[in-house]
Amino acid sequence: MYKSHTCGELTAKHAEQEVTLAGWVHRRRDHGGVTFIDLRDRFGVVQMVTNADLYPEAHKDMEPVRSEWVIQVKGRVHKRPVGMVNPEISTGEIEVEIQEVKILNPAKTPPIYINKEEEIDEQVRLRYRYLDLRKERMRRNLELRHQVVKFIRDYLDQHGFLEVETPILFKTTPEGARDYLVPSRLHPGEFYALPQSPQQLKQLLMVAGVERYFQIARCFRDEDQRGDRQPEFTQLDLEMSFVEREDVMNVTEDLFTKLVAEIVPEMKLLQSPWPRFTYEEVMARFGKDNPDIRFGMELVDFTDLAAQSGFRVFESVAESGGHVRGIKAQGLGDYSRKQIEELTEFVSQYGAKGLAYVALTSDGEQRSSFAKYLSEGTLKEIIMRFEAEPGDLLLFVAASPEVTFESLGRLRELLGERLGLRKPDVLGFCWVIDFPFVMYNAEEESWDPSHHLFTSPMPEDIVFLDTNPGEARGQQYDMVLNGYEVGGGSIRIHDRQLQAQVFELIGLEKEVAQERFGHMLEAFEYGTPPHGGIAPGIDRICMILAGEPNIREVIAFPKNQNARDVMASAPSPVEQQQLKELHIDVRA
Ligand code: AMO
Repeated sequence: MYKSHTCGELTAKHAEQEVTLAGWVHRRRDHGGVTFIDLRDRFGVVQMVTNADLYPEAHKDMEPVRSEWVIQVKGRVHKRPVGMVNPEISTGEIEVEIQEVKILNPAKTPPIYINKEEEIDEQVRLRYRYLDLRKERMRRNLELRHQVVKFIRDYLDQHGFLEVETPILFKTTPEGARDYLVPSRLHPGEFYALPQSPQQLKQLLMVAGVERYFQIARCFRDEDQRGDRQPEFTQLDLEMSFVEREDVMNVTEDLFTKLVAEIVPEMKLLQSPWPRFTYEEVMARFGKDNPDIRFGMELVDFTDLAAQSGFRVFESVAESGGHVRGIKAQGLGDYSRKQIEELTEFVSQYGAKGLAYVALTSDGEQRSSFAKYLSEGTLKEIIMRFEAEPGDLLLFVAASPEVTFESLGRLRELLGERLGLRKPDVLGFCWVIDFPFVMYNAEEESWDPSHHLFTSPMPEDIVFLDTNPGEARGQQYDMVLNGYEVGGGSIRIHDRQLQAQVFELIGLEKEVAQERFGHMLEAFEYGTPPHGGIAPGIDRICMILAGEPNIREVIAFPKNQNARDVMASAPSPVEQQQLKELHIDVRA
């Protein structure tokens, strides 16, 4: 070993010991005959000092050394004099007097300051990720992720789960995104698909009798990137046999409740047990099926009032089956016209054609974009319905149900953020259940599964599949945290007949189903236990526990927002010979 101790572990109890340390030069300060060096390794930073009188050679050897050089140092630990103690760092009571220095590797001046927190262009951070990862923030994120995964493994091991690895080179999976394909050299014109999730394989493991399976599984989806999406990401994938919806939700809730208490004790659960909402309820109250429940500002429906308000815009939307809903932002009643215009622009991204408002200013005035069109008394009624008071800003959208929900749901979270209501140390976990089993796809004039095609409908709703599929609810559940969907799962269909009925409903032809999922259908004929599972997203959960704004911050080597690895420069062109072997002809 190059070191007797880590940089982070030295305290006053090591005083007068001889130590050998190795690491990176974090900071260097020259004071004539003495040079102070902060030496850093993964475990912390320790202050070291040369003394030209006592150890002239070491002092001289240290002269060329600059930030991020890798050095090994022998020296003696001394207690710092009172008044020089630095309570900010764990080694703040001591310093190491340098007796001998060995340069292990010099370093070019890094393009990123490791010893300073500063705004740096993310592309530069990703290009030099190995330097970015040296920083305290990223080191903490890597450690947190390690602890989260370790806790999960230990917990599931204690609860009888087996960790099983499933293939990466597989066949298309039905999660609804595009596949990443891998051409086969041995089978011209044929392709593997990287798994969008191990969904089929975990169900096959249930047929195999594993009963309780889990995997820290890498998944691949070729979809548009967002802050909470990466082309490859990690799920805690789990599946259980002989269970009902309740059982899977209970195990998951217990696991994450205990994980939070152990790994991030400084964070508080908003509610325990986690509240449960039906899909219908979350949409009506929060406008989205992955709501941030840490604050109120719930949507209020006043389509009924709007229908007879005298305001044509509201009336015609109400008549044509649309919704008129609003939210009350407490404390924003003095917002200027310009500020409201900016909010209008925000909701227009989600299809809202306008944002009507009533501002109740703090000095008792009322300003409104549409009051002059209202029949008498209506404004008063609206204000009463919202229980609005001076200082409140009421914002309304009149549109189709989808647009109303989406624009107000997003606006609510934007304003919640501005008003400081999304407390970073509070974890608002909740469950969303009773999703529609299928959603109508107007473009394709077909029914699409709202989770995936192995999800079971609620037993009492199977009757609707033939007559009124839109009425049927699925046996699925989403795990939601602070405005993000952090996990999704369901009880599966284990009856071949019902599976065939569902394929027919979603318009999957028999031959296509056979070609894609024949292996599953066949397996299901050999004694399949009732089963179900869930897949919490490790990246999203770690992002929230780390208080980070996107999942790239908790992934060691993420892709950028264009799905590129800018460090290794991938994807990249390949040799003609490789393409030939793969039977691929690339056209520009
Ligand atoms: P689903 O598709 O809902 O379910 O995914 C489960 C969870 O995986 C995470 N996730 C992602 N994280 C980062 N980047 C992405 N591109 C991405 N896509 C999904 C989310 C999401 O909640 N096989 C089913 C699970 C099951 O039914 O058991 C599945 O994958 O946190």
